[in-house]
Amino acid sequence: MHIVYLNGSFMPIEEACVSVTDRGFLFGDGVYEVIPAYGGRLFRLPHHLQRLQDSLDGIKLSNPLSESEWTQLLERLLQHNRDRAGNNNDQSVYLQVTRGTSRKRDHNFPAEIHHTVYACSNPIPEPDPAVERDGVSAITLDDIRWAWCNIKAITLLPNVLLRQQASERGAAEAILIRDGYAIEASSSNIFIVHDGTLITPPKSPVMLPGITRDLVLELAEQHGIAYREDNITEEALHSADEIWITSSTREIVPVTRLDDKSVSNGLPGPVWKTMLAFYRQYKDAVRSGNAN
Ligand code: PDD
Repeated sequence: MHIVYLNGSFMPIEEACVSVTDRGFLFGDGVYEVIPAYGGRLFRLPHHLQRLQDSLDGIKLSNPLSESEWTQLLERLLQHNRDRAGNNNDQSVYLQVTRGTSRKRDHNFPAEIHHTVYACSNPIPEPDPAVERDGVSAITLDDIRWAWCNIKAITLLPNVLLRQQASERGAAEAILIRDGYAIEASSSNIFIVHDGTLITPPKSPVMLPGITRDLVLELAEQHGIAYREDNITEEALHSADEIWITSSTREIVPVTRLDDKSVSNGLPGPVWKTMLAFYRQYKDAVRSGNAN
């Protein structure tokens, strides 16, 4: 049975209902997180909870739960859904906090806040061998989103429309260009490799500070891979030796075609292979309780 959490209770997903007066439904007034768990252990949980706090601060909404309450809730959720996960017990948690319900539809915040807190988990599918063998294709599109993309807001209509355009052109992702610079993708961060150096855009209000992104930089530092945080012009993106996209659900994926042209020789590159091995090593350490 698929069990979810809603406002203090665990219940079958079919029974979980949210009011039509919820501000998440009416205004997209809420934030979310996506957190992988490997072998039942939540991956980089403190980082995700810090980003959740930053997102809540960004929309001036109090945090309904303490760090230990979040941890307990998410661990219980994983436990409830253990039977649905495969032998490896890898699950992905989605959590959402909205500014709750209010009687009248009013743009102003309600005087009294009753948050809506929702969380669910789903099994993480095995990595697709075709993606590792061939990579994926991406297209570039204008970044039509707002100016506060550092907030992980549930208001994802621009991201949805951009991703749909990519899908309709047979691409796995849309890399977003703002003022001539590649910022990130519709639901992932971006990296390029140029002359052996790994480059990713610096954190800024127009980009989501990805947890996977930060881990990739940590691993580069730890293992002596040359890297820098720097703006990536559209030209640099198009002449990159390698392009990767990163996210909690996709991990690190090589982009081998961009705008219908091959990236280098059109195959996943050597720096990506090295980084993927370090990333997998780190995941195994989390699984066995030697990292978080
Ligand atoms: N998205 N940038 C955007 C716009 C994202 O939506 C995401 C993640 C990322 C990568 O962040 P992280 O490494 O912390 O997952 C970057 C999630 C997975 C989603 O919306 O489902």
